[in-house]
Order: sequence, then C-alpha cells, then structure tokens
Amino acid sequence: MCLKWFCFIAIATSTVNVDAIWILPRICWFQGDCCPETWIPENSNVSGLFNRLQDKVYGQHIVLKAVKRYIKVHMTDKDPSKAVLLAMHGGTGTGKSYISSIIAESIYQKGMKSKFVHFLSATIHFPHKNDIKQYQDYLRKLMETSVKNCERSMFIFDEIDKMPPDLIDTIIPYLNYYDNHSGINYRKAIFIFLSNTAGRDIQQQTLNFWHEGKERDSIELKDMKKLITTSAFNTKESSLYHSDVLIHHVITAYIPFLPLERKHIRQCIKDYLLLKKYYKNCEDIKDEKVREIEEQLQYSPEEEQLFSTTGCKRVPEKTIYVMEED
Ligand SMILES: Nc1ncnc2c1ncn2[C@@H]1O[C@H](COP(=O)(O)OP(=O)(O)O)[C@@H](O)[C@H]1O
Ligand SMILES: [Mg+2]
Repeated sequence: MCLKWFCFIAIATSTVNVDAIWILPRICWFQGDCCPETWIPENSNVSGLFNRLQDKVYGQHIVLKAVKRYIKVHMTDKDPSKAVLLAMHGGTGTGKSYISSIIAESIYQKGMKSKFVHFLSATIHFPHKNDIKQYQDYLRKLMETSVKNCERSMFIFDEIDKMPPDLIDTIIPYLNYYDNHSGINYRKAIFIFLSNTAGRDIQQQTLNFWHEGKERDSIELKDMKKLITTSAFNTKESSLYHSDVLIHHVITAYIPFLPLERKHIRQCIKDYLLLKKYYKNCEDIKDEKVREIEEQLQYSPEEEQLFSTTGCKRVPEKTIYVMEED
C-alpha cells in the first residue's frame, strides 16, 4: 500500500506540469508535519489542549484559563483580526517553556519539532549587540518564509527581556493589523514572549495575598496585569523598557506565572519518579522519599519558606541525587 503511494507520488512529481498545491499536502502528511487548519470549536484539538494543560500543569490556574481562552479564540477564528501575542511572565521553573511546548504539541503534529514552530532564545540566538542588523534580516526572513508556507506558524521568543530593543521592534509590523505585508497574511500566526521580568513582583503579590488569607485559586489575571506592565516598563535593564511593543499595545494578554509552592513541587517530584521508573505506580511512591527530595530545594522568603526559588526546574537533578544515594 505504502509502496503504491510512493510510486504514485514519484510519478506525479516527475511529471513536468505537476500541481504543487495538490501534491504538497500529501508530502506533509507523509512527513507528519502539516500546516494546522482552523480548529472546529468542539473538536478534539480544543479538548486536547485543555486536557493536556489540566493534567500536566500544576499551580497555574490563571495561565490555564488564559491560554485556553486565547488560543481557542484564535485557532477557531477563520479570519482573526491580528496575530495573537501572549506575554508570559514569571520566575524560573514555573512552567513558561513547558506550557509553550504543550501549546505547540496541541496544534502541530510534530510539536516543538514542527517546521512551523520557531523557538528563539535571546541569549542563544541573538547574543551579540553588534550583529543586530544580521539578526534583524534573519528574523524577517524567518517570519516571512514560515508564514508564507503556513499562516498558522508559531514563534516563541525566550528571554524576551534580554533581546536587543531594535530586534523586538522588527517584529512589530508583523503583529500589527497588517492585512497584507508583502502579500502575506500574518494574522493567523501565534507569538509567545517569555520572560522572568516581574517574577519577583508576582511572588511578592502572591505572598501578600497569602498573608491576607486570600486563596491562591482566587487570584485572577486582573490582580496581576498592572504589576506586570509596570514592572516591564520600569526595569531599566529589560529591553521591554519603553519598547515599541508595549507602546503599540500589540500584546493580546499578559499572563502571570505564580511561584510554585511545596505541594506543586511534590507533584513534579512524583511525575519525575514515575518518568524515570523509580516506581511503577503513583500509589507505590514513598512519601518520605518525596519529602527528602523536596528538602533538597530552596524556598523563599527566608521566614515563610513558601515558594521554591527555582520552581520545578531542579527537580530532576535533586531526584536523581536522592534516589541514586545508595
Ligand atoms: N507549573 C508546572 N507544572 C508542572 N511541571 C512544571 C511546572 N513548571 C515547571 N515544570 C517542570 O519543570 C521543568 C522546567 O520548567 P520550565 O517550563 O522550563 O520553566 P521556565 O518557567 O523557567 O521556562 C518543565 O520542563 C516541567 O517538567
Ligand atoms: Mg524557560
């Protein structure tokens, strides 16, 4: 059967007047990396994203709600008015990169490995201020080529606060309400900005709420929005400082990642113990082992010892350290 298909495509592609539009979707199907289409509101893609987030992400109810809403609205809209840009802010290890990859997995067959998903880290991809011109050309070309091939391309910018401001400004035309920029429609694209900016302020506010007796689950997006924008504006070393991105109001939503508490760290530890097959089932996991690993991490503030200073990021190394002890 496969052989038949292969021969058919081989013959078709070797014909001079091949209809590329007809053949390309089939090639992508073979490669398992097709450009995603508009979601039908109640189909499995929508619930796939919801379920994945619900099952895999701990302690980020605000993020879950916002991501579900904004991604669903954008992906189910056949003709969105602009590209969606989610600005995710929070401390290290709270799940920013993790959630971005869950979004990618729900939209693209190959997830982060899809050729329509681009993960760009300020310190890895754009480290030298003097090469800015080169970076700008690279970025423009990347966005144009990817969106030309697939309107629903996704661009994740990690450590956006460390990106040279001129480079952030290069992205703006693609985020604005451009109908046709060089004949390409960017309005279906998805942009995600990740940064640690405001992480400390979000933690302080979460701590204040804790002292006031406000339940973590009752903290809402609006309780944190002002704090994030103020922090992004006032952190002088951040490239978002007075950047055009903020001025142009192109950001669809500011999404705060709350600092993770000990109970969330224990959930990450259990996940890792199962992943590495230290235990077969969740019920077999020994509580004292989990506590021992939990104690290997650092917590803040000094007095309350509430939040893991590195979220779940260092759980793997601490788990291995404890489990390989004997
Ligand atoms: N909220 C969370 N729920 C479940 N696991 C998490 C969460 N936050 C972090 N993790 C785990 O910790 C790892 C590191 O988190 P990451 O998303 O890279 O943090 P950052 O916010 O610094 O980007 C993830 O790959 C995931 O395994
Ligand atoms: Mg990250």
